[in-house]
Amino acid sequence: MRTYRIATIPGDGIGVDVTAEAVKVLDRVLPGISWTEFDWSCENYLRTGAMMPPDGPEQLAGFDAILLGAVGFPGVPDHISLWGLLIPLRRAFGQYVNLRPVRLLPGTESALRDRTADDLDILIVRENSEGEYSEIGGIHNPGRPDEFVLQESVFTRTGCERIIRYAFDRATERSGKLCSATKSNGLIHSMPYWDSVFERIAVEYPSVQTRQMHVDALAAEIVLHPDRLDVIVGSNLFGDILSDLAAAVTGGLGLAPSGNINPDADAPSMFEAVHGSAPDIAGLGIANPVAQILAGAMLLSHLGEDTAATAVDRAVRDVLAAGTVRTPDLGGPATTADLGTAIAARAAELA
Ligand code: NAI
Ligand code: MG
Repeated sequence: MRTYRIATIPGDGIGVDVTAEAVKVLDRVLPGISWTEFDWSCENYLRTGAMMPPDGPEQLAGFDAILLGAVGFPGVPDHISLWGLLIPLRRAFGQYVNLRPVRLLPGTESALRDRTADDLDILIVRENSEGEYSEIGGIHNPGRPDEFVLQESVFTRTGCERIIRYAFDRATERSGKLCSATKSNGLIHSMPYWDSVFERIAVEYPSVQTRQMHVDALAAEIVLHPDRLDVIVGSNLFGDILSDLAAAVTGGLGLAPSGNINPDADAPSMFEAVHGSAPDIAGLGIANPVAQILAGAMLLSHLGEDTAATAVDRAVRDVLAAGTVRTPDLGGPATTADLGTAIAARAAELA
């Protein structure tokens, strides 16, 4: 049996609660994981002046994977928590793919009530290292009437090519359908460039059926005709917005997992829920742990532990379909730990 060293960064708010449940479930399907917890968080920032120590990436580099809760909490500005931990780790470890599967799970009440699990099974491939999330820019003439702000986007040839190629590979493995999110009518430099790279790479994949849609129309398509979509590739900002939308459509942020993948496997990949630290329900013990548990399933699958990953995935589906243990966001009275324990027990039967 292989053993793994996995780092956890529970972070802030409900990140702490949902990570505990994911650890509980993974321990039931794959014995022999050695967990190391790092208390990097906004609390840590208020104590030490930094979200993580300067050698944070070095401390994590030797792990097989990282399970991240959520970072960000009232009292620390969001740009500090994001740029002090999440974004530097994604970049230090070359996690240029942000993989966000969106599925309608059984037994959950969706905004698309009449759709079934067959109609909505989308994989969002989000560029995770450049694009609109850049540090280039600044505020000019602050405090004066002619004050203005510039925020630049960065689209590199390497960055566009590798994420688009990754998406074509995933589309080839799945249904053979790929849709690219663009906005070439508004962003007249970056998006026509993105589109041209997409069209160039499409030639290498004649079997993949492609579409390019403006991101606003694509947002509507996710709600109106999710069955026409399979793999979606988008820039950093577009992928981020589309995946929150898609997650909400399937029944809430408490169900949507995400992986920050380094496809070259020369540094650890990092798995997390799409949601944040949910300060409005932090400390109540009622956060839905499913998103983080499914992030754990993605982590197992990334390590090549497909049997364990499938057991977790099926356990989530079975428990949700049974409908007896539900957290308040799913309309029930269960706690985070109740739902985590139920999924862990079912996963152990299946593993
Ligand atoms: P959020 O995702 O934390 O919460 C949005 C809404 O969804 C809230 O009403 C919350 O109660 C609900 N929600 C989220 N997860 C839930 C769960 N598992 N179960 C039940 N309900 C759930 O987003 P928000 O409020 O915009 O951000 C809060 C903080 O989290 C901010 O500081 C933000 O920067 C940070 N954040 C961190 C992320 C990360 O670490 N990757 C991602 C998104 C936000
Ligand atoms: Mg987001």
